[in-house]
Order: sequence, then structure tokens, then C-alpha cells
Amino acid sequence: MLLVKALVCNYQKDSVGICEKLRFGWQLVSDRREVLQKTYQVQVSCDPLFSQVIYDTQKVDSETSVAVELEGFVPMDATRYFVRVKVSDNAGQQSAYSEPLVVETAFEQGTKVWQASFITPDTQPGDADTSDARLLRKVFALDEKVIWARAYTSSLGLYEFFINGKRVGEDLFTPGWTAYHKRVLYQSYDIKDLLEVGDNCLASMVGNGWYKGVIGFECNKNNYGSQTAFFCQVELITESGKHQLLTTDSTWKWQYGPITFSELYDGETYDARKEQSGWDCPDFHEENWKDVEVLAQPTSVLRSQDGLPVRIIQNVEAREIIKTPKGETVIDFGQNLTGWVEFFVRGASGDEVVIRHAEVLDAQGNFYTENLRSAKQTVKYVLKGDGQGEVYHPHFSFQGFRYICIDAYPGKVEIKHFSARVIHSKMENTGTFFCSNSQLNQLQHNILWGLKGNFLDVPTDCPQRDERLGWTGDAQIFVGTACYLMQAFPFFTKWLRDLEADQRADGAVSNVVPNVIKDQGEIDGVIGSSFGSSAWGDAATIVPWTLYRYYGDVQILREQYISMQRWVEFIRSQATDGVIWEKNFSFGDWVALDAKEGSYFGATPTPLISTAFFALSTQILCKSARLLGKFEDERQYSDLYVNIRRAFQERFMKEEGIPVSRTQTSCIVPLVFDLLEAEQKKSTVELLCELLKEQDGHLNTGFVGTPYICKALSEQGKLEEAYALLLKQDYPSWLYQITQGATTIWEHWDGLKPDGSMWSPDMNSFNHYAYGAIGEWLYNVVAGLNIDESKPAFKHSIIRPRIGGDLHFVQASHLSPYGEVSTKWSVENQQVHLVVSIPANTTATVILDGVKIVQCEPAAKENHLEGNVARFELGSGTYTFFYELPMLKNT
Ligand code: BGC
Repeated sequence: MLLVKALVCNYQKDSVGICEKLRFGWQLVSDRREVLQKTYQVQVSCDPLFSQVIYDTQKVDSETSVAVELEGFVPMDATRYFVRVKVSDNAGQQSAYSEPLVVETAFEQGTKVWQASFITPDTQPGDADTSDARLLRKVFALDEKVIWARAYTSSLGLYEFFINGKRVGEDLFTPGWTAYHKRVLYQSYDIKDLLEVGDNCLASMVGNGWYKGVIGFECNKNNYGSQTAFFCQVELITESGKHQLLTTDSTWKWQYGPITFSELYDGETYDARKEQSGWDCPDFHEENWKDVEVLAQPTSVLRSQDGLPVRIIQNVEAREIIKTPKGETVIDFGQNLTGWVEFFVRGASGDEVVIRHAEVLDAQGNFYTENLRSAKQTVKYVLKGDGQGEVYHPHFSFQGFRYICIDAYPGKVEIKHFSARVIHSKMENTGTFFCSNSQLNQLQHNILWGLKGNFLDVPTDCPQRDERLGWTGDAQIFVGTACYLMQAFPFFTKWLRDLEADQRADGAVSNVVPNVIKDQGEIDGVIGSSFGSSAWGDAATIVPWTLYRYYGDVQILREQYISMQRWVEFIRSQATDGVIWEKNFSFGDWVALDAKEGSYFGATPTPLISTAFFALSTQILCKSARLLGKFEDERQYSDLYVNIRRAFQERFMKEEGIPVSRTQTSCIVPLVFDLLEAEQKKSTVELLCELLKEQDGHLNTGFVGTPYICKALSEQGKLEEAYALLLKQDYPSWLYQITQGATTIWEHWDGLKPDGSMWSPDMNSFNHYAYGAIGEWLYNVVAGLNIDESKPAFKHSIIRPRIGGDLHFVQASHLSPYGEVSTKWSVENQQVHLVVSIPANTTATVILDGVKIVQCEPAAKENHLEGNVARFELGSGTYTFFYELPMLKNT
């Protein structure tokens, strides 16, 4: 049996509006082992029955089943294609054709000449200061049945789109947040079934969002423009073959709506008494509606949606109602999350519901909002009071919360009337991790929820306070963990385009993407710049490279190469002798605990960190150049890398082979970035262990050191120390937060202190994914699932579970583009039982440490035992290993 399943185009199963180079991927399913694809054949047709094949690769001799490009196939704009694949394998088996995949293209980026214009309802004096959402509408007549219709819609600000009283699609926070001056996304919707013969009403509600609303910790408004606008172009074909175009233009009308206030940070106010029944239907009287204005906004900025739609992903039911000591009525949802609350209410016209949102309760058990800074996160609903009962949720504002405080509600607050909606970009879950330690399982849960809470169209630092920005440092720290847990390729591809769009002329990367920070101001007496921090700007190289590693798609490197190169050249232009990066503002080991009292900057010297990241980015650029066949660049950057590495050792390492600065991060960074010679590694890891001992086995690292500390230890023979660090339960540690009841990852090791007091409210997020980057170590080392960079995307896996930490069992899986790769191990009386699954069309090297005698079922064709390390070369299939550990921890 040989089957082709999970056919995707650009990592998506169903896609209307694809606008970029088409790449296909599929998985093989077989009942045999050691399956490799021998050939593939891809066919494209315009009909599901493939009665006419318009493109055929014919049989291609190739093992490639991920990111397959169709050479010579040039898709037409706005066209629906059906694609199918069949394969044969190395045992001569042939598959049937896969189920066809529907792929619909949009318009090649930037080439479309649009007939529609951006139209604004913000036509009144003082509108730059308003935060209400406005309604727009237009009636069109259709004289015959429609057989094909697409709406291409966008906005400046956020929009919801309606046809004949029905909401179009389920996407939220459209058109998404991008570098609006260069890229505004449009969504594509199949609207055939919503149109009728006769009059039809196209309507939209538009709010401020990221475009016109308050965004950024400086709390500026109108960051991109002071007028919201809607854009819509409907293209349709009627029964008789007539083409018709409906567009936003000066003939549309607008009126104020029931949303009298909506801002991302502050929440939303909705006065249901102001609803105008039927406003989005054709037979509505619009006499008192006002004329819109056509904006001069060029439509050439429009790009087809390239990320993933934001949706309601799941519901979380209210857990309990609490009366706080202060007498507040609080509902606990049991989970810190991002989204909004939907509630039911019955009451009289003019009655109000007022809800505030918070992440934690204070030491006394009262509702705590100080850490939100200026973000009000308040939702107010005024009832129309028609006796029916009313259901409400916000539209253009989201909240980060676990608790809500109900300041007003007519009648009795009942738990069943409140439900939380979890909102983020729609990504497929691809990673699991579960083990015998319940606290580690909670940590894994918190890492996942940190991702869920901060992947709402843009990877943000936090979802609650007046920040919620695409901090580049946080994103590069977490990207590897994110790619293990979710199919994040399109999400980051979009963000990288904005990173490039906001890159400064000299190649410096903005510290937040999309960039809304005008001036970083002074931080702890240091003048900050909003561009070019080391470890932040390096997202320009680290994120594309990580995507390449997880998804094996060279297109991302092709696309980002110039941006990556400009970043490296920016650093070079700053660097002393072209190799030591000591100029330019940097956040350094941000919020490390070895910082001076009251400072956010950790004690590790910034030039050490910056130069190490210079080396890392140069190395990534060099590897990317090789993959892209840019051999001259490869040579040049490989020389540069060697020079930086040498200079690093000369400047930052002492003769005794240890770093000049005695901090944990000074040891960690050169170890994991491979900047040291073998002897230096040995002494540096010893120093790291000594420094840990000085802290009673605790870390005191920040954003730079924390993600890598366990890796630095376990790679240098200090597995036991790495486990000890991971499993520490007292402050500061990953599990300390778990003992304090955390359900997401905190920004600070001591966000909530053992005595119940809190870190300063000016910077104390309880949903900050950065330190969740420990996830990668759990998956790579504890579970043992590793990518072989020379055959990325788990085409060849290196499976090396490192048993330790008193764990009895661990099981983990990752749904790679080839299929699921997984490990499951358990230990009893030093006997290890390990089950490994390797997907079809991939291979793996299994490495087992500390092995005396080992048994593999079924037997591996190739295996070696060197000292007490066993190695097996395996093809696809499930394998079971039994072995005895000669030495367990402390024995
Ligand atoms: C953010 C961080 C970010 C940092 C950089 C903070 O306000 O929340 O996560 O990376 O600033 O300084």
C-alpha cells in the first residue's frame, strides 16, 4: 500500500488568494518500512475531474516531497486550479493519484491595476481623534444569476465586511498589521452564494485598529494615517458570461454605528441602542447617510494576504465566580489567554455591562490591572433592551486576561453567560510533549499558551499592556520553539516581509516589526535607538534560517537574502576593524538578573553579545549563500565569519580559555554559537557550572542567555546540570512560575514573588513567550528530536533522547512536512524502553548514550557501538529499543 496524503500548497490545505510562487508538499503513507519516494508526478487541471490536464510534470525521479516547485508552470491571476500527485517508492510500489487540492491564485503581488479606491468615512473635523467604528454601504443591482464572484477587500484600520446582512468570512482583525506605508493586505472571498438577482448591499464596519488607533508604548495615535478607509472590489461573472465590477467609490455612504469607541489596548464600547436594523441590507433607508470621501491612498500598496487569517480558535468556559476582598465580582477563566469574552445579558434599554480584564489577582486576591500600564482593556455594552436577551463580543479590540471584573451587569451574574474566545492566527498544531513530571507538562502547556497568546497576526512580546509589539528579539528567541509547536511558515513569512519593508536604508532592522516606535528614549540612562540592536535585529537572519530548517523551503532564503545581507553589512559598517561590534545601542542580556539594581541591562558586556551575534548572522548568511548558489558571497562571508570568530577569541577570551567577563551569558553565548576552540569550551563550561553553583544552581540570565543555557550545558557534557537547572523549583527558575500557578510564561523570573508581591508594574507581563524558548531544549534533548541541517525539515532526523532528570517517561511528536516523527521513552530499574517513529520518505540516525547492551526491533541494518554510544541508521517505520543504562544519575 502506498498513498499520497496531506497535499498542501504553500503550507495550506485550502487556499483562496495565493499570490506567491507555488510550492507543493505531500506525505507518503505506506505499510512498509524504509520507504523512500522514487518518483513523483504532479498534474494541474482547471476542473476537479482532470478532464483536461493543463500542466504535467510527468514522472520526475526525485525524493523531494516538500516545497516542490512546478518548473515552467506560470499560473494565471485569480484562477482556480486542481492539483494532484502520485508517487512511486523504492520498492516499486505505485500510488494512486491523491485527492485533488484546490488552489486559487490572487493577483501577482503589486501588478494588479485596481478600479476600486480607498474610501473614508472620516470626513468630519476632529476625526483624527475619534475612536468610533463607522458603517459604510452601497447597493448594486444584478440583473441575472451570478456564476462566479470574488470580493477583494481591505482597509486602513480594521474592517468587517457584510453582504445582504451576512458577515463575509470568519476572519478577524482584517486586513492584518503590516508595514502599511509599503504593504496593505487584501483578503479574497468567494461570495457567489451571497449575491442575489436584484438589489444587493455591500457593507462594511471600519475601526481604528493598528492603523489609526493607539499603538506602541509611547501610546501614539494615527501612526500610519488619521483616516480609516475601506477598499472593496467585487469581480463577478453572470450566467450569460457578462463580467461585472463593483467597487468602492465616491457614491458609497457612511454613518456612525453602535461602536462608539474601539481601541486595541483600551477595549470597546458598544451602544446597542444605536444599532440600525438592516443597515447592511438593500432595502434600508439611507437618506440620512453621509457621503464618503475618496482617499488619495495609492492602491499599489495592496498585496494579497500572505500570512494566516486570524480566527476564533477555541472557547474557554468560565471556571468560577469570585468575590474579592474589595467586593469585586470577578470571573476566573482558569487560563491566561488572548481574545475576548462573549456574554449574554438580558435587561432594559440603557442598562450597562462593564467588564475589565486582567491577568492576575494581587496578593490579597483583588483584581490587579497595574501591570497593564495605560491599557484599559475595558468592554462596555449598553443594552437595547428588547427583552430577548443580547449577546455581545468586541470587534476591533482584543484583551490579554485570565480574570474579568464585572463592574456593571443587570441582574445576577451567572457563570454560564460568560465564555472566553481564544483568538490567534490559524495555524495547525504540529508539536506535542508529555512526560512523567507534571510540572514540566504544565511548563509545556504554558509555552504553547504563550504562543497562542502572542501570535495574533504578528509575533508580539505580550498581549495585554500598552505594548503588544512585534519585538524582533522575542521573535528570534522563540521561533524555533514555535515551529516545533505549530505550522508557522506562512505566519513568519508575512512578518519577514514587513521586517524587510521597515529595514532602514543602511540595513538596520527596526527593534519592532511593523515599526511604530519613533524614538526609544532613554532606558536606564542609556539613549536607545529604535533600530539595530544586536540579538533583536538578528531576527533578519535567524528567523528565515529557522524556517528553512523546519520546513526545508529554500524559497524563504531566496526571498529574504537581500534583507539578511543588508543586516550583516549594516553590522559590518558599525564594527571596529570590521569584526568587533561595539557601537550602536543594544538591549544586551535584557532583564537578566545580574543587572545592576534597578536596571534592565544584564551584566554581560554588550560588545561580547553583539560580536557573537555578528558571527552567527554572518554564518547563517554564508550557509544561505551556499544553498542559493551564490558562491562568491559564500566565500566572502565565510572569510568574514572566520575573522569575527578569531577576533572574538582575542578580545573576549582570556588566555586560560574563559571569557573576560564572569557572567553566565558570557559563557553560554560563545559555547552555543561555536565560537570557541575545544580547550576553551572545556574551561568555559566549567566556569559556567561554577557560576551556577555561586547562585546555588540558579540561572541569572536574561533574553540572550536564557534560551541557550541548558543547551550550552548539555552539549558540553553537563547533562545532569542542565536537568537540574530545568527542574529547579525555587526562584529564579522555569518551574518557580509553575509553583505560583502560572498558565503562561512570565516576562520576569519574579513577576510574582514568593511573598505575593510583584515586580514593578511598569514591565511585568504574565504572558511573554520569550523564556518559553526552553521548549526547543525539551524537544531536542529531553525527547531527542533533532533536525539534520543538511537534510532539513526532518528529511533526515537525528534522534538522541538524553535520559535524565529523574523522568520516568517522555513522549513527544512533531508533525514535520513529511509526516509525524516521534519518540517515546520510559525507564524502569535502569532499563530503557524507547519507541521511535520515522515518517515515510525520511531517514534517521538514532543515537543512544550510556549504553552497555542494546537491542533494536526490528533489527537495524546499520549500527555501531563506540564506547557507550550506540548509533543506528534507520529508514522509515517504527522501531523499539531496549537497553540498560550502566549509570543512572548519581550512581
Ligand atoms: C518588551 C520586550 C522587548 C524589550 C526590548 C520590552 O518592553 O516587552 O519583550 O524585547 O522591551 O527592550
